[in-house]
Amino acid sequence: MKIAVAGTGYVGLVTGTCLAKIGHTVFCVDKEASKIAQLRRGESPIYEPGLEAEIVEAKDAGRLHFTTDYAVAYRQAEVIMIGVATPENTDGSANLQALYQVCEQIAASITSPTLVVVKSTVPIGTNDRLAAYFDQLLGDSRKNWVEVASNPEFLSQGTALRDTLQAERIVIGTESQEAADILTEIYTPFDQPILKMNRRSAEMVKYASNDFLALKISFVNDIANLCEAVGADIDEVTSGMGADSRIGSRFLAPGIGYGGSCFPKDTKALHWLAEEAGYTLKTIRAAIDVNEKQRFKLMQAARKDIPLFAGKKIAVLGATFKPGTDDLREAPSIPNLQMLLNEGADVHVYDPVGLPNLENVFGSRLHYGESVASVLQGADACFIFTEWAAFKEMDLALFHTMREPRVYDGRNCFSVKAAEQAGLQYYSIGRARVGGAVFA
Ligand code: UGA
Repeated sequence: MKIAVAGTGYVGLVTGTCLAKIGHTVFCVDKEASKIAQLRRGESPIYEPGLEAEIVEAKDAGRLHFTTDYAVAYRQAEVIMIGVATPENTDGSANLQALYQVCEQIAASITSPTLVVVKSTVPIGTNDRLAAYFDQLLGDSRKNWVEVASNPEFLSQGTALRDTLQAERIVIGTESQEAADILTEIYTPFDQPILKMNRRSAEMVKYASNDFLALKISFVNDIANLCEAVGADIDEVTSGMGADSRIGSRFLAPGIGYGGSCFPKDTKALHWLAEEAGYTLKTIRAAIDVNEKQRFKLMQAARKDIPLFAGKKIAVLGATFKPGTDDLREAPSIPNLQMLLNEGADVHVYDPVGLPNLENVFGSRLHYGESVASVLQGADACFIFTEWAAFKEMDLALFHTMREPRVYDGRNCFSVKAAEQAGLQYYSIGRARVGGAVFA
């Protein structure tokens, strides 16, 4: 099938590439000419393991095309998928400007009936409103030319290809059998379970799934904080909880809170949407509140040892919102780095892939290290914000190159026992403190 994909961010680019891989002819559209030029050279504008090789393969096979000329792409396509960003407005609601702009471009371009598939995460009811908007844009002469379907995506950054090629489910929300049949035909080669429902339910599946996972993380963080207060160990607790298949062990890792471009935005968007509908989602409100506070756990613990950060050398390991990505959006590291700088600390950061993006945020206010060893040397304290494998596997003896081996680990990279054996002063989330606080 001939498919156009609007937007070459994580959703659009990965979707387009995977659809081309399974045999469809795909035209990826983006308004940014530099991105399209890069993609035409076979370079991925986003950091995603394995993606560039798949782009090159599909492009060389003649099935994956990149263009800024939306009119040509939309006119040729039997199906148009939209994967543009729906960022957060200041009040927490979803910003749908890019989505509506693409719809206007589609209405201005198509010359025959077309199925428009919304993959972007959108508030419940958006697909219905888009359908009405298309009718208005297309007028009486082209009435009912556009059928709108919802088809949310569930890919995670860092594992986006696997999540798409081996998805646990494909959710299709349609209001007509014809639209459901076309989407089924597109996805059949993936050989994955297809769940069919109406558009509003499909939109809700996306929010409810992300918000449930965010809630699970905030719940485990809440319990981890309590473990610290009452002397239980969160690792032991989650191993006991996770063994119950009704609970499951995934998304049960405590830390300094969830970040990224999805969970923070989608929890706030659903909460906002519920308030608009006259209903308060108390569980999601709690998940948001716990997450806001959780981000500052390391600083709270460190203040007990270091009352004044001014002039102190602080080593920071990890800045991205999780390993496997260079994305810093809503990363817990950002407000912490800001606070350390505001308090006059001399901050040295190392991240395996996130430093160029970090430099775009902080410029020369931070020192960017070339290795773990280079930032630790002579430091008064070390903060760990991301659980990169390189940190989890490092030789703990390296911490003894610091002025004091004080480590505040926001992602529980090491076992308490290993930290003890290595002679560290070690604070982690939901577990016993090693070495004790100096000014507690
Ligand atoms: C998330 C969802 O997992 C995807 O299913 C969804 O498609 C995507 O959002 C989206 O809406 O586009 P992503 O934001 O890439 O994917 O990242 P996750 O792996 O879900 O991690 C989110 C945050 O939760 C990270 O900061 C991570 O460190 C944190 N986390 C995750 C924990 O603190 N504990 C855990 O046990 C798991």
